[in-house]
Amino acid sequence: METKKRIGILTGGGDCPGLNAAIRAVTKSTIQLGYEVIGFLDGFKGLMNGEHQILDEIKTSGIINRGGTILGTSGVDPSEIESRSAEILKRFEDLSLETLVVIGGNTTLSITSKLVEKGLSVVGIPKTIDNDVKETDYTIGFQTAVEIATEALDRLRSTAESHHRVMILEVMGRHTGWIATYAGMAAGADAILIPEIPVDIEELCGMLGRRSESGSRFSIVVIAEGTRLEGKIMAQYGNLGGAGRVIGGIIEEKTGLESRTTLLGHVQRGGIPVAYDRSLATAFGVKATELINDKKYGEMTALKGNRISSVPLEKVADGIKTVNLNAYKTAQKFFG
Ligand code: F6P
Repeated sequence: METKKRIGILTGGGDCPGLNAAIRAVTKSTIQLGYEVIGFLDGFKGLMNGEHQILDEIKTSGIINRGGTILGTSGVDPSEIESRSAEILKRFEDLSLETLVVIGGNTTLSITSKLVEKGLSVVGIPKTIDNDVKETDYTIGFQTAVEIATEALDRLRSTAESHHRVMILEVMGRHTGWIATYAGMAAGADAILIPEIPVDIEELCGMLGRRSESGSRFSIVVIAEGTRLEGKIMAQYGNLGGAGRVIGGIIEEKTGLESRTTLLGHVQRGGIPVAYDRSLATAFGVKATELINDKKYGEMTALKGNRISSVPLEKVADGIKTVNLNAYKTAQKFFG
């Protein structure tokens, strides 16, 4: 009996809302083309260690609105993947996989690009709340993180107003300020600090002082976790996390204004995806299936304007997409 055509799928790196919508779209649309789908557990770990499960219509029904990833995920050391690439290729052959769909962020997609060079046929789908993957306007998970951060800022506004305080919200984004820029703009923040723009602490504190003197009884400041002060990351917890508390302390000391800091952290990665991320994930999943059908491997699905297209993975492999400063300048018009 002829063996069924098979594809593999895995989710790698940090999780984000919308991953399950992408898994569902790839699974259902490739099954329609006669494929069998194998889901590897916990990202590349599952591929290396042979931990996987069959995905079908039943397993992927009712997951479009669920956060996280039903396959699990893991961060992996790129050097380990490199050193075990022969094992990965063998696993591929043993399971008679035609191709592998990798849903990941920068690190995962960079690793994937190297496996393509070793002969692995792969299709990539970009996901991360950071939105820092090149060659695509948005990544799965970003809009949900913006919604979550915006709602947090709205809530901070009412308590700031009541106590006449400076409220600082630290958001994620690794070494870019996409979440801070868009959530800050949406919430009408008085200042947005991002890694892409050097912090002028005197200007910031001067503005906050002027606001207070002119009768504005509170201020809202958003800071991306990767923001640097005098060129240095202000991390207090691990490699990123704590910039908000550092800036809050400086503001209080220099202006005498009472300040409080909230570190939003992994709340931005959890829970139900917003409709936009479900639709983007679904469109990327269908595009990935078209690439598989056309045997156009080594590509990553991408959003350009309102068009879904694809780009070669090697164009994505190195570097990050930093904030579009036109968007920042738009938000900046309303600072202070
Ligand atoms: O890349 C997504 C992200 O949430 C970053 O914004 C954040 O800095 C990092 O992952 C946190 O990593 P971990 O989940 O390993 O703590």
